Amino acid sequence: MMKDDIEKIVFTEEEIRKRVEEMGAEISRDYAGVPEGIFCVGILKGAVIFYTDLVRKISLPVQFDFMIASSYADAMESSGTVRILKDLDYDIKGKHVVLVEDIIDSGTTMHYLLDYLRLRKAASVKICAFMSKPSRRKVEVPIDYCGFDVPDEFLVGYGLDYAEKYRNLPYIGVLKREVYS
Ligand code: IMP
Ligand code: MG
Repeated sequence: MMKDDIEKIVFTEEEIRKRVEEMGAEISRDYAGVPEGIFCVGILKGAVIFYTDLVRKISLPVQFDFMIASSYADAMESSGTVRILKDLDYDIKGKHVVLVEDIIDSGTTMHYLLDYLRLRKAASVKICAFMSKPSRRKVEVPIDYCGFDVPDEFLVGYGLDYAEKYRNLPYIGVLKREVYS
């Protein structure tokens, strides 16, 4: 069973639900003056579960788009370089963009994507991350909406994987060291 590989639960389903609801309400308040709504860019695959929960808590129109960026491959450490494996489907010129990410670690991925989207002349670009590991940062990233700061532990569940496994766990947990060493 997947749960046998989990050392401890960090955020339960209920804690996640509550926090996502708060984040959606905050975004809805901040963009209340933008009747056309926002353009949410989800970073596949990790952010997909957070993304689908979050957009349903936003009371403004949300246009969907997704990107795939790779800095991790199957390893536990970021390689420091970012490749875009799937680009946006739409032109974001003049749009209010919110980048939705599962977790910000070294910051490499978000730093790169933020620059990339700004070059495309969005009206604004903000970052919404479900979690952040501040102690791991190598490049500064302005996180406008952050669900939780977490310590430097390898987390899985709620979209986060280890070697493509555990994404469908409904909670966030710490993976047992024996699973990856
Ligand atoms: P960064 O570019 O170093 O900030 O890496 C961010 C990406 O690394 C996230 O989108 C995740 O896919 C992955 N990542 C970072 N920390 C974890 C973790 O604890 N568990 C699973 N994936 C992680
Ligand atoms: Mg990711």
